[in-house]
Amino acid sequence: MRCTVFGTGYLGATHAACMAELGHEVLGVDIDPGKVAKLSGGEVPFYEPGLAQVLKRNIDAGRLHFTTSYPDAAAFADLHFLGVGTPQKKGEYGADLRHVHSVIDTLAPLLDRPAVIVGKSTVPVGTAAELGARARELAPAGAEVEVAWNPEFLREGFAVEDTLRPDRLVLGVDPARPGRAEALIRRLYARLIEDEVPFLLTDLPTAELVKVSANAFLATKISFINAISEVCEATGADVTQLADALGYDARIGRRFLNAGLGFGGGCLPKDIRAFMARAGELGADQALTFLREVDSINMRRRTKMVELATRACGGSLLGANIAVLGAAFKPESDDVRDSPALNVAGMMQLHGAVVSVFDPKALDNSRRLFPTLNYATSVEEACDNADAVLLATEWDEFKALRPADLAETVRSKVLIDGRNCLDPAEWASAGWTYRGLGRS
Ligand code: UDX
Repeated sequence: MRCTVFGTGYLGATHAACMAELGHEVLGVDIDPGKVAKLSGGEVPFYEPGLAQVLKRNIDAGRLHFTTSYPDAAAFADLHFLGVGTPQKKGEYGADLRHVHSVIDTLAPLLDRPAVIVGKSTVPVGTAAELGARARELAPAGAEVEVAWNPEFLREGFAVEDTLRPDRLVLGVDPARPGRAEALIRRLYARLIEDEVPFLLTDLPTAELVKVSANAFLATKISFINAISEVCEATGADVTQLADALGYDARIGRRFLNAGLGFGGGCLPKDIRAFMARAGELGADQALTFLREVDSINMRRRTKMVELATRACGGSLLGANIAVLGAAFKPESDDVRDSPALNVAGMMQLHGAVVSVFDPKALDNSRRLFPTLNYATSVEEACDNADAVLLATEWDEFKALRPADLAETVRSKVLIDGRNCLDPAEWASAGWTYRGLGRS
C-alpha cells in the first residue's frame, strides 16, 4: 500500500519508518527542509533507540522517502496520516491546533480524488469531526474525502517497539461514511492484526478521548504515588516498598508507580491541561477538576527537590555547587520539553546555586532551552566540588554509580535521589547523606 505521513517529529518520523518496515511505500512530509534533508539521508534528528536502523533499511529498500511538497504528497497516495504536534498554547491550558489546521488547509485543496486522512496527533475531542467538515469544504473531491482517527500511544524511547507491537489499535470513523477508512487501515496494519493486536473500531470522539484518557490515567497514577510519597515523608515510611506491595495487586499493577520527581515531557503535562480546557468548553469542567490536583502534586515534586537541596546545603543555595545528573525528561530520550530535571536545575540557579548539569544524550537540546546553566561533559565534571549531587533522570549509567565513583570528586557527600533508583543503604554505609523522595 501507499501512504503519506504529515509531520516528521517523534510521532510522524517513527510512524513513517514503521509503516515502510511493514512493507508499504511511504512518503513523509514536513515543512522544515532541514528535517527532510536529514531524514532523506537516513539521519534521525532526535535520539530514539532503534529508529535510525529502521529508517535507513527502508530508505535503502526504496520504500521510504521524504519531501516538503504537498502537491507531491497529494499525488502520491490516497491515505494520508496526520502526525504533527499539538503543543500547549502559550499562556493558557488549551491545545494549539495551528499545525493540524495548516496541514488540512494546505492538503485538502489538492485532493481531487477520494481520500482518507487519518489523524494520529493527540487532539481535543471534537477536532476530527471539525477537520473532516473543513477538508470536504476545501477539497475538489468534496464528500469523497473523509477524516478518521487512529490515536498513537507510543512512548519515547520505545517508539519503534510500541508502533510495531502496540498493545491495541484504535480506529475512530465517521458513521456517515462507513467501511472505507476501516478497510484501508485493516489492510495497512494487517501484519499487526494477524499478530493478534486487538483492533477496536469506534466513533471519532471515542477514539480522540481514548488517547487523552489514557494519558490522564497514567499521570494520575504517577501523582497518586507521589501524593502517597508525601505522606511517607511525613511518617518515615518507604514509598518504594509500599509501591512494590501495592503493585502485586493485579488490579493496581506496579508500572507507573515509581515515586520521584514526577512526570514531564511533551505529552502528559500538556495533555492533562488540554483535557481540562476542553472539558471546560464542553461544560463538563467539574468532571476533571481532579486533574488540576494531579498537575499540582506533580509540580510540587520539583519544589520538594529544591527544598531538599537547600536543606542539604545548610539552609541556602547561594553560592552552593550543585551537580544535576540528568536533563532529559526520562531516560532513553534527548527530549527536554517540560523536563523536571531542567526545571529543578533552573530553580536552583535562581536561588543562587552554581548548577552543573550532565546528561548522556540531551545536552544540545538543554543548551538551546536553558542557555544559562553550566553543562558538563561527564558525571565527574558535573560533580567536581559539588556540595550536593541530584540524580534527576534515571539513565542506566547513573543507576550504575557506586559511592566510591564520586567520593573523591565531590566537596560534600550528599546525594539526593530524585528517581529513587539507588540503594540508600549502600550510599549511607559509604558515609553519604542519602535523600530519596518518599524515603529517607
Ligand atoms: C506518554 C505515554 O506513556 C504514551 O503512551 C503517550 O503516547 C505519550 O505520553 P512518554 O511521554 O514518552 O509517553 O513518557 P512515559 O514513559 O509515559 O513517561 C512520562 C513521564 O512520567 C516521564 O517524565 C517519567 O519519568 C514519568 N514517570 C513514569 C514517573 O515519574 N513515574 C513512573 O512510574 C513512570
